[in-house]
This record gives sequence, C-alpha cells and structure tokens, in this order.
Amino acid sequence: MVSSLEPRVPEGIDITHPSIARVYDYLLDGKDNFAVDRAVADKLMASHLEPKRLALANRDFLVRAVRFVAEQGVAQFLDLGSGLPTSPSVHEVARDVVPGARVVYVDHDPVVIAHNRALLATGDGLVTVRADLRDPQAVLGSEIVKDCLDFAQPVAILLLSILHFIGDEEDPEGIVARYRDALAPGSFLVLSTGTSQGADPGMVSGTRDAYQDYSTPFRLRSHAEVLRLFDGFELADPGVVLMQDWRPGKTTDRVPLKATNLSGAGVKR
Ligand SMILES: C[S@@+](CC[C@H](N)C(=O)[O-])C[C@H]1O[C@@H](n2cnc3c(N)ncnc32)[C@H](O)[C@@H]1O
Repeated sequence: MVSSLEPRVPEGIDITHPSIARVYDYLLDGKDNFAVDRAVADKLMASHLEPKRLALANRDFLVRAVRFVAEQGVAQFLDLGSGLPTSPSVHEVARDVVPGARVVYVDHDPVVIAHNRALLATGDGLVTVRADLRDPQAVLGSEIVKDCLDFAQPVAILLLSILHFIGDEEDPEGIVARYRDALAPGSFLVLSTGTSQGADPGMVSGTRDAYQDYSTPFRLRSHAEVLRLFDGFELADPGVVLMQDWRPGKTTDRVPLKATNLSGAGVKR
C-alpha cells in the first residue's frame, strides 16, 4: 500500500517493482523512492551488508576520481548508469577543475531521467539520455550524445556501481571494449564494481536475497576480472584497489567495509 506521504508518481513509473536507482537514492537519504524500494534497502541493511556506508564510499570515490581525471585535462564525461541527482554531482566536481566541462548522464530508469532533465534543464553542456548502457552503439550513436561530446577529444567513461548488475552472459568486457574503441587517446575509464575480494559470505547471500525481486543478476567480480575490464587502458596509480584505498582524501572513510567495490581509473594511450 502506498502512503499519502509518497512523492507524486509520474506517469509511466512502476512503483510495484523496486528500482536500483530508487533503492540507491534511499540509501543516500534521497526522497525519490517508494515503499517497494525501501523494502529492498531495509532487507539489505538487515543482512550483513552496510549498504549506506557502501553507497557513501562509492560517491566519495566518484568525487575523487572525477577530480583526478579533470586534473589530467579531461573536460568531457559520459556517466553510464548515472543514478538520481546527488550532490556533488559529476558536473559540479568536474567544473570545479575545468569550468565548462561537458557531461552526458545516461540511465535507463524513467525516474532518473525525469529528475535529471528537470535539474539540468538550464545547464549548458549538460544532457541526460535515456538509454541502456549495454547497447554502446545506441548510446554512442545518439544525436544528443554526439551533439554534446566530441569523441575526437578525450572523454571519461564512468561506470560506477553498475557492472555488478550485469551478468557474464551480457559480456561486460565486450561492452566496455566497445566504448573504449570509440575513445580518443587521453580518454579515461573510471570504474567501480562489487567484488568478491574479502566479501563476507553472509553478505553475498543476503544481497542476492534482497535483489531477488530484480530481474537483473547480482555478480561480484574478482580482482583479475576487474583488471580485464581495463584491457586497453593504462591504469593510474594505485591500480585496481578497494575503493576506499584509491587515492583517499582527508575525509575518506577508511574503516574496512564488509562488502565493497574494486575501483580504478585507466587512460587510453
Ligand atoms: C547503484 S546506481 C549507481 C549510480 C551512480 N553511478 C553512482 O555510482 O553513484 C546504478 C544506476 O544504474 C542504472 N542502470 C542499471 N542498469 C542500467 C542499464 N542497463 N542501462 C542504463 N542504466 C542502468 C540504474 O537505474 C541506477 O540509476
């Protein structure tokens, strides 16, 4: 039953099934979630996972990595599976370093698209595209994407906390490779994805249970598997590491997490 305190439901939004974007929004204290999403998040919190710390640590990695890439002179970003607006956003961080940095936000969730469009309506060099990131040809061939980003110049591809929802049968290595092949030298891949490295077995089964309502798989990956996703990129120091250990800042939470992501940033030469 949907309470009267629920946000207004835009047309075409299914609130009988959980959405990854809205579960994540709830974990980050957002308001764009419904009872069905909160039920999944509560189940995650009741398992051995610490999903809220995990989500915050992932956003902290995003901020450090986007800043790092912008400091290398990259002024264009393609954020795949961008999620609901969260501050600081990719463009806020990038523009702090490179004023006028251009950002395309891609997501397949209609709630994300509605909010991003409203938020970015006035933004020059900021666009939101509804697309399935598993179809690089559709994303890269989109006129909106091509109008915003110049692929003859370096572009940073961001794939943050998304590939663990893409199973092996979808060929994640092939998907990343198709984006890589469209990039100019000096472009970056920034990636963070759930890992089996050091994962608590209770956490793994608890998470699978919590996500069982999704029609998407939940696939943790080893260090070697994440390294393979960077094929064709030269890894920046310190390579592929647990995300809290990737160039930590003064405020980075270094208390070990029971479950975390492996993260890295690599440049195409
Ligand atoms: C866990 S959130 C991560 C958001 C953001 N990247 C971050 O790290 O803060 C995953 C996002 O990916 C989106 N997503 C999942 N599968 C997708 C797909 N096949 N194509 C595009 N977006 C997808 C979800 O809707 C959700 O917004």
